[in-house]
Amino acid sequence: AAGDATAVAHPNIALIKYWGKRDERLVLPWTDSLSMTLDVFPTTTRVRLDPAAGQDTVTLDGVPLEGEPRRRVVAFLDLVRERAGRPARAVVETGNTVPTGAGLASSASGFAALAAAASAAYGLGLDATGLSRLARRGSGSASRSVFGGFAIWHAGQPDHGADPDLGSYAEPVPVPVDELDPALVVAVVDAGPKAVSSREAMRRTVDTSPLYRPWAASSQADLADMREALRRADLDAVGEVAERNALGMHATMLAARPAVRYLSAATVTVLDAVLELRRSGVSAWATMDAGPNVKVLCRRAEADRVAGVVREAVRSGSVHIAGPGPAARLLDA
Ligand code: DP6
Repeated sequence: AAGDATAVAHPNIALIKYWGKRDERLVLPWTDSLSMTLDVFPTTTRVRLDPAAGQDTVTLDGVPLEGEPRRRVVAFLDLVRERAGRPARAVVETGNTVPTGAGLASSASGFAALAAAASAAYGLGLDATGLSRLARRGSGSASRSVFGGFAIWHAGQPDHGADPDLGSYAEPVPVPVDELDPALVVAVVDAGPKAVSSREAMRRTVDTSPLYRPWAASSQADLADMREALRRADLDAVGEVAERNALGMHATMLAARPAVRYLSAATVTVLDAVLELRRSGVSAWATMDAGPNVKVLCRRAEADRVAGVVREAVRSGSVHIAGPGPAARLLDA
């Protein structure tokens, strides 16, 4: 029905990281990033217009959102309302299957699903590029979850005409996926919420870390190497570049003042296990986001073995195997 839409989106894991904004309000990053959308942990969001209501109702897994998370959703809806020229408030119901706030990119699937559902409910009529730009305003990484498989999010040029918003969106990267046969083994070593939000951590890193600018420059070179490695379906090259890019990102945070350290003892234990796997001839490479969890890139054919070794290393916690997932989509009413 008009004014009522439901969408599903999946999280993505960056192989070339987004870390640092050049414009916080518009969520414009300093660097390009590249990710794989997963086939696990979908978020489903329904948006229903409620013209009689005085304010939005926002629930996550049936529980009303409060504070900063609610404020972010309402600000996002305000943006959609302004564009649609429709002031109606909405009822937003989200179901998450990923541990929220654990550095597992729940904001990526969350805002991609919200952007798809809200833009349909308010009748914005966006194409995929427009949807990616809109999702970006909710959370930068959400711009990439609009697409399935592999996606690149363009930072955009600081001087992109009169409207800097236009140049910053994600688009699919063609990859010979069957040949690459990638899997990500997700080691959840700690599902609790993070101590410092990625938003605050990014801000602090850009403002105070002497390593930020060098990393941003090297990340541009990493991206070129990554695109080439993906094109060749060279999993070891993809993994090597992803791992060095992620470790470099964490180095920028460790050098911030005060330092931001997401990596825990359990993280390092998994990193040791990954090194051990490589020594035994298994292609396995690690990447970490704004939390202690580790995502291990490997061949699908070896994912069970990798998951077994990782499970042994984490003991408490959970291990999941993910492959390349689908684009965000609307569900039939
Ligand atoms: C480490 O997209 O959550 O996962 O734009 O402030 O909402 P905001 O940040 P967010 O940051 C994700 C950072 C990362 C790397 C990545 O996904 O590229």
